[in-house]
Amino acid sequence: MTEEIKLPYAYDALEPFIDKETMQVHHDKHYIGYRTKYATAVKGTEFEGKCACCALRDLSKVPENIRAAVRNNGGGQINHKFFWKLLKKDVPFDGPIKDAIEAKWGSFDKFKEEFSNAAATLFGSGWTWLVKDGDELKIIQTPNQDSPISQGMEPILGLDVWEHAYYLKYQNRRPEYIEAFWSVINWEQVNHNLKKSEECCSK
Ligand SMILES: [Fe+2]
Repeated sequence: MTEEIKLPYAYDALEPFIDKETMQVHHDKHYIGYRTKYATAVKGTEFEGKCACCALRDLSKVPENIRAAVRNNGGGQINHKFFWKLLKKDVPFDGPIKDAIEAKWGSFDKFKEEFSNAAATLFGSGWTWLVKDGDELKIIQTPNQDSPISQGMEPILGLDVWEHAYYLKYQNRRPEYIEAFWSVINWEQVNHNLKKSEECCSK
């Protein structure tokens, strides 16, 4: 596996909150699957060899016959790549993101409650995000693998609530997985995302 697609830490690095087996299947099967299917969809088009962000920032420019494949698999590719970098144990909640969250929600607990509730109530498969919409921070949900960047927003923090992200360990107990997520957030990366949106060719 090349550096580009390798998980940036050991599969068991997030134990006991997110288990090794889930990370193996999630990364090696689901994520790699999205990448492969995206590469196949854009082969021979102007998007071949470019970051999937290029296509997702303006889906109207993507040929109609591959638009759904690009939206689903390109989204799956960049959402997961973003998610892997967000996960690390024992990183304190600090820095500009702390100030920004407290300014908007009043307290971390209030923010956590609203984000967790959005993740728990998302019907079916999708993601819950903290995004920057212009200068404003917002919590949003997206269905399937839809990326906030297709709506003109920049992801700051995101939680994968597809069953493939938690079912092996938590089965139908999604709220327990959501609670565990708060123990593995790499706030340094979140601060990086707040300051400078995820690197993308079209920015
Ligand atoms: Fe996933």
